[in-house]
Amino acid sequence: MMWNDNLKIGVELIDSEHHELCDRIDKLFAACGKGHGKDEIVSTVEFLESYTKKHFSEEEKLQRASSYPKCAAHKAMHEYFKSKITEFKRDLQENGATVSTVSATNYFLMDWLLNHIQKVDSELAQYIAH
Ligand SMILES: [Fe+2]
Repeated sequence: MMWNDNLKIGVELIDSEHHELCDRIDKLFAACGKGHGKDEIVSTVEFLESYTKKHFSEEEKLQRASSYPKCAAHKAMHEYFKSKITEFKRDLQENGATVSTVSATNYFLMDWLLNHIQKVDSELAQYIAH
């Protein structure tokens, strides 16, 4: 639902990882729609915590390898996302999965990822392609 070819930036490894990230967020979204969001949220957040560590470091490696000038700013965005994941995880541990937490988390994940892929990562891909 969320992933489509328009989101491809043209770097195969990155595209397949973005696809995986989108699918996971879709899964959470679908679970919310069936009233099972609370069951799915913890595993989604934990998956994202480990998967984004790997994914972002691969993207950052690619940037260093091509001497990308916006490397530091891009990394700062990744760090922001990681800090949000840590925050969501702590909130879930302390307050449990309330309906408002689940929907706020889901909305943030979808919005951030789509925006990041379409603007920030595609700008990187354009730079690499030149
Ligand atoms: Fe990125």
